[in-house]
Amino acid sequence: MRGLVRETELRADRLVLPLFVSETASVREPIAGMPGIERLPLTEVVDEAREAAVLGVAAVLLFGLPAEKDSEGSGAWDQEGVVQQATAAIKRALPQLLVITDVCLCEYTDHGHCGVLNQDGTVENDATLELLARTASSHARAGADIVAPSDMMDGRVGAIRAELDSEGFSDTPILAYSAKFASAFYGPFREAAGSAPAFGDRRAYQMDPANGREAVREALLDASEGADMVMVKPALAYGDLIRAVKRATRLPVAAYNVSGEYAMVKAAVAAGYIEERAAVCEILTSLHRAGADIVISYHSKDAAQWLSQTA
Ligand code: PBG
Repeated sequence: MRGLVRETELRADRLVLPLFVSETASVREPIAGMPGIERLPLTEVVDEAREAAVLGVAAVLLFGLPAEKDSEGSGAWDQEGVVQQATAAIKRALPQLLVITDVCLCEYTDHGHCGVLNQDGTVENDATLELLARTASSHARAGADIVAPSDMMDGRVGAIRAELDSEGFSDTPILAYSAKFASAFYGPFREAAGSAPAFGDRRAYQMDPANGREAVREALLDASEGADMVMVKPALAYGDLIRAVKRATRLPVAAYNVSGEYAMVKAAVAAGYIEERAAVCEILTSLHRAGADIVISYHSKDAAQWLSQTA
């Protein structure tokens, strides 16, 4: 009876699992603050993706950790780069599993910012657009099903769309990180990706958590530039914006349940304060209830496993 009137359903085929792929790791490396999540060597990435696919997880979202970084982040668009290699390997082995690639420069720049810098250390928006576009098309060439720009530069969705179209990838959708806040909840990710800014912070290009209307405007702007899906990130403190962005754009909305949100749950579970399965299912369900069509979460594999047990 309860199933008959339930309004939202947690489903593995709405979940996305982020993966960190390292060019230098020779074995799986644990990540501080994220028990159960590892930096994967290229040789392990297909196995990890397969585990997710077997459980019915819809997609993986790839982040690359290159062997070398430079001021421009040139590893990001290297056709033989770590994400490009991982994408090709996963698509070869698991053609049904969707591969989404994170398009950003911060994991590839030696200064850790999401774009190239001016003399004064600020990010140069327009020069960065071309590099992001190049990065996105190299991912599509490697076989990415969806590209997801997370840099928050102005005009990047339009620039990426134009480049993809001109390179023959007009069918490759863009999932724009539209409402991406300058958040304290990205801490463990930056440790995992080695992408903490060497100086300053990201507040010039990420959004102020106090600004909800601005988030909706950003999402509408990305939609007008050709975004096929939009994202709200982080997720847990932003349920109002998941709903508002969904209403305003009418596009599929993804919610990113980020590293710090995962870390909080894991820490509380380890301390014996909360019950993991119930808490995680409640969190993921609440994101769907808020309006998310797609949920990106480090809990995806566990959740899919639990769902398969109850089915
Ligand atoms: C890259 C990027 C970040 C995250 C996703 N893409 C880090 C940041 O903006 O500092 C964070 C994801 C997470 O915390 O799980 N720009």
